[in-house]
Amino acid sequence: MLSLYDRIGGMSVIEKVQKIFYDKVYNHNWLGLYFKHIDQKHIESQQAKFMSGLMGGPKIYMGSVPKEAHRIILATNELFDVRKGLLIESLKEANIGQSEIDEWIKKDEAFRSVIVKKSISDCKKVYDDEEIIYYEKP
Ligand code: HEM
Repeated sequence: MLSLYDRIGGMSVIEKVQKIFYDKVYNHNWLGLYFKHIDQKHIESQQAKFMSGLMGGPKIYMGSVPKEAHRIILATNELFDVRKGLLIESLKEANIGQSEIDEWIKKDEAFRSVIVKKSISDCKKVYDDEEIIYYEKP
């Protein structure tokens, strides 16, 4: 059976989804705050490479694992759900089929428990001068 990567249409389609998705993320009045100092093209590229490996495509992602990449980001379940809503909208806009959307979302959901935190004490600072990244819902 073809991998999810191949059924979706490979890297160019994954990149297209990331562009649609991060345009929404950066324009969102809450989730967008978390990304205001991050270059959009860079995060789109990192996320596309990360998803490629997860979907059975080339393993070309060289960044940190999600637990590390989000260790000082305080994201609640409510924020994670906002992100999930934007991701579903983006996958639909990119004309991805419903069963592939379900599989993509399932892979994404697998990271909820390592990313979502209840409080600042769940964040892991490595350097003293690091600031916890947290924004209340506007
Ligand atoms: C509400 C939930 C989330 C928020 C607020 C969030 C926020 C962020 C931010 C601000 C960064 C940039 C960090 C930096 O470069 O210093 C980042 C990076 C990243 N995130 Fe998320 N994220 C969320 C969920 C997810 C999920 C579910 C995944 C996996 C499916 C994911 C995968 C990644 C990856 C792969 C990077 C790149 C890390 C690197 O370049 O080393 N994120 N995220």
